[in-house]
Amino acid sequence: MEVTNVTEYQAIAKEKLPKMVYDYYASGAEDQWTLEENRNAFSRILFRPRILIDVSKIDMTTTILGFKISMPIMLAPTAMQKMAHPEGEYATARAASAAGTIMTLSSWATSSVEEVASTGPGIRFFQLYVYKDRNVVAQLVRRAERAGFKAIALTVDTPRLGRREADIKNRFTLPPFLTLKNFEGLDLGKMDEANDSGLASYVAGQIDRTLSWKDVKWLQTITSMPILVKGVITAEDTRLAIQAGAAGIIVSNHGARQLDYVPATIMALEEVVKAAQGRVPVFLDGGVRRGTDVFKALALGASGIFIGRPVVFSLAAEGEAGVRKVLQMLRDEFELTMALSGCTSLKEITRNHIVTEWDAPRSRPAPRL
Ligand code: FNR
Repeated sequence: MEVTNVTEYQAIAKEKLPKMVYDYYASGAEDQWTLEENRNAFSRILFRPRILIDVSKIDMTTTILGFKISMPIMLAPTAMQKMAHPEGEYATARAASAAGTIMTLSSWATSSVEEVASTGPGIRFFQLYVYKDRNVVAQLVRRAERAGFKAIALTVDTPRLGRREADIKNRFTLPPFLTLKNFEGLDLGKMDEANDSGLASYVAGQIDRTLSWKDVKWLQTITSMPILVKGVITAEDTRLAIQAGAAGIIVSNHGARQLDYVPATIMALEEVVKAAQGRVPVFLDGGVRRGTDVFKALALGASGIFIGRPVVFSLAAEGEAGVRKVLQMLRDEFELTMALSGCTSLKEITRNHIVTEWDAPRSRPAPRL
């Protein structure tokens, strides 16, 4: 049957993938409360559409860190994409580039920065995990820069891996025919089997738990790429990130895979936007599955959004064609949402186009009797 929305790819991926792989992609941490909430929170934000506006032409283009893209919908870093499909990150890179948008490559990709760059032109960001061995980090950042990556997304919510119980039960580990390609030559490309999640053990062994704001400054001394701080959900950290020189902020709870019972990102977004005071762009990821979600994030002040799971699920289902289709469906839905809300360009999307639970009661829709 024809796939008509992004969410449908999840069930197809579940059928196709080995249980260990599907569970790794799908899971959240512990009770997975935040995982559900990332979706549910969007459904509590309603529209205040404007009518009788000429919407015959709609412009969804935008500029992110100086790069013009076709729409404010970008690809979040998701690790180990060759578990989903043999072409893995290559397919994702091609699909992103065909859609005219930005792909973020994970540090833990199963294709290297050079390999992804070789797929052809495209605007790409590199997601960085900071290893205890700073020479490893410096080398990798240099390689990403040389390969033409345009920004670093520094993930700051993972000093330790969140407790994903399915991965513990499945003794999750990277299949032996794959490696974390960026680290292959550095002898850090393999993940040992462990008595719990192999990835959790890998993180405990390699990732630097001492990471702090001074390291954000250090990173700027080793690269000229702008740094997006990924994983901020409070006003306090927004101010600190800007002080530390961040070029932008990604409001993210890591797809609900780290600390459970943090709010949905769409709930945290406005606090961050207000604290940023327009000094740097603010982005969001987490639970975006519909064009209406994209519009709501922009109405709350985001400059763009990133999608995570829809990429790996559609990749598993249909490879590059699946990822292309996800991007096309979100684009079409977002365009339709703009038309039905009376907006012809992104700058016309305002806070008044939505109403949230935390708005003053008088602007709430009347209760059902
Ligand atoms: C992730 N995410 C992630 N983040 C990161 O900084 N580095 C990484 O390597 C990964 N890997 C990863 C794998 C998988 C399977 C998932 C689902 C997520 C988090 C990702 O970048 C993003 O924050 C969320 O996926 C966004 O939420 P949705 O769109 O998946 O709901």
